[in-house]
Amino acid sequence: MSTSLLEVEVHLDEQDLVQTMKQEVAHGLRQRPRQIPPKFFYDERGSQLFERITELPEYYLTRAERALLDRAAPGIAERCGCSELLELGSGSSAKTRVLLNAMKGAGLLEKYVPVDVSETMVRETADQLRSEYPKLAVHAVIGDFTRHLHLLPHGERRLVAFLGSTVGNFERDSAVALLREVASALGPQDRFLLGTDLVKDQAVLEAAYNDSEGVTAEFNRNALRVLNQQLDADFVPERFEHVAFFDRVNSWIEMRLRSTEDQTVTIPGLEMVLDLSEGEEIRTEISCKYTRESVEDLLREAGMKLVEWLPDEREYFALSLAARG
Ligand code: SAH
Ligand code: AVI
Repeated sequence: MSTSLLEVEVHLDEQDLVQTMKQEVAHGLRQRPRQIPPKFFYDERGSQLFERITELPEYYLTRAERALLDRAAPGIAERCGCSELLELGSGSSAKTRVLLNAMKGAGLLEKYVPVDVSETMVRETADQLRSEYPKLAVHAVIGDFTRHLHLLPHGERRLVAFLGSTVGNFERDSAVALLREVASALGPQDRFLLGTDLVKDQAVLEAAYNDSEGVTAEFNRNALRVLNQQLDADFVPERFEHVAFFDRVNSWIEMRLRSTEDQTVTIPGLEMVLDLSEGEEIRTEISCKYTRESVEDLLREAGMKLVEWLPDEREYFALSLAARG
């Protein structure tokens, strides 16, 4: 155990964040369709909006994964025998508590390493966890899991969790590259727990990303507010319509922002002027929907093997337990 029970390691300072954002957003906005990477949703407001999404009646993902964890976590903890939980994209760690409780129940829990780009969320959550679990060492990492995996603290008998189907926000090549890095950090006894949303009825999928309260639309438009804040851009979010649809060929939900009029946006941070015509769309997120085969295939490609496949009764969502090899 570390000497202090709470450590916060920061790999993303404001300057680095803006520098990376400049490169990635400039690249994305030059592509067709134009794109903004989804990690830029998550400033403080974006993280709060995501938390609201998880409670929406249409957004079944979080509830389905939580129910699965409630059922499967004690067995997973028992069989893995892991004393440390490292979580990528941990957010509020709400569902993670189910895993932590299971590891605690098995008498194994020593350390939790949440990793997330959302600084406020990580700090608040780390503080809360320290008071909820007085004996737990929390080593929080504020970082980008696409860039900082090699800097993460080493550990033994680790369960690495990547929940919420966040892996689905990456196109296949990027997902494979990311999971390859995860695989190379796994020791022979370590396990990887992956949450994935599954292919299902198109209406159910599309409703989850087009909620009646418009929270997802606000979350989507938050990407523009982040660019205004960080890059001095002058997007007027209300001049963009939320669009989300299931792309059956790619097996993903795609979220876009559609310009409601001809407009010019200036982005001084990128020295860019964007002429958008009415109806032109910017892609802000993909959210891949999987089958058992596509998950197994993804894991195999990344150098891992599926140890346990745990879908829920409706086959809406699945947890996969995997190992290196
Ligand atoms: N795991 C939580 C949160 C999912 S939302 C759940 O299942 O409910 C996605 C989370 O990943 C957000 O907290 C966001 O800040 C984080 N995130 C997105 N891209 C990231 C990146 N590149 N590096 C680190 N964290 C990232
Ligand atoms: C974090 N991620 C897995 C969510 C998803 O479903 O793709 C983000 C989200 N986008 C719209 N609603 C929720």
